[in-house]
Amino acid sequence: MALEKSLETGDGQEKVRKQTAVYVYEAPLRLWHWVTALSIVVLGVTGYFIGAPLPTMPGEAMDNYLMGYIRFAHFAAGYVLAIGFVGRVYWAFVGNHHARELFLVPVHRKAWWKELWHEVRWYLFLEKVPKKYIGHNPLGQLAMFCFFVVGAVFMSVTGFALYAEGLGQGSWADRLFGWVIPLFGQSQDVHTWHHLGMWYLIVFVMIHVYLAVREDIVSRQSLISTMVGGWRMFKDDRPD
Ligand code: HEM
Ligand code: HEM
Repeated sequence: MALEKSLETGDGQEKVRKQTAVYVYEAPLRLWHWVTALSIVVLGVTGYFIGAPLPTMPGEAMDNYLMGYIRFAHFAAGYVLAIGFVGRVYWAFVGNHHARELFLVPVHRKAWWKELWHEVRWYLFLEKVPKKYIGHNPLGQLAMFCFFVVGAVFMSVTGFALYAEGLGQGSWADRLFGWVIPLFGQSQDVHTWHHLGMWYLIVFVMIHVYLAVREDIVSRQSLISTMVGGWRMFKDDRPD
């Protein structure tokens, strides 16, 4: 869709500038993004307190159920993350081609690697002019796959393996993920790796949010509003 925008130039003359807007992220994908973001915040905060619990609570033990609530919130958010992820994989099949970018990184394409390098240089402020992208740029795409897809699968598998210990032998979680604890060694090893996975995701989220805000301003292309409303707007009329 082309939007026409009138601009008043310094000499009082009117100049018409063409702005393009392309529909990129469909509603289920956008909803999934924000629900997942919220679930990861809940999982990070509650997970941190599961690993480093608060000092003993005052009063009668029966009056306090703090760790119970923290663990409940963690498990509930864990279900949201995992079920949401399965829904996201389904959407990769039925959604538009941008819905597949998260999972299919075109590492076999030479041009993609070239553009990845350009994007690294642009992010480091070594390039003056950014390239325009309708979907994810190559660097964002690679980071989202390596950090988010791999990280979320790892956290779900190790998380449900630990959860199976609570549900007990023969439970659905034990039948699906009972193989994980022996693979790592013993329960404490899975706790430690699951804990480390939290920091892996936190590093991603910090860089991701910083760059989403920064690129929204310096790359002259919309990002955050694209993840809210679905449309990518190009804020200048440079050639693509
Ligand atoms: C725990 C927090 C977050 C996680 C795990 C996360 C994860 C992701 C993932 C996996 C994608 C790819 C979407 C897809 O292709 O389906 C994405 C895209 C995006 N996220 Fe987040 N996100 C988080 C928080 C945020 C926040 C707070 C912002 C805004 C400041 C944000 C802005 C964006 C934008 C703008 C895109 C699209 C980038 C593009 O168009 O190339 N995210 N995020
Ligand atoms: C972004 C995703 C997640 C993060 C950041 C996260 C974080 C954490 C952390 C830091 C711990 C404490 C580990 C320790 O030091 O012992 C923990 C424990 C645990 N997590 Fe997660 N987790 C995530 C996803 C999940 C999922 C999807 C489940 C599945 C239900 C889950 C279930 C558990 C269980 C059962 C425990 C052990 C609770 C206990 O021993 O009392 N986690 N998590």
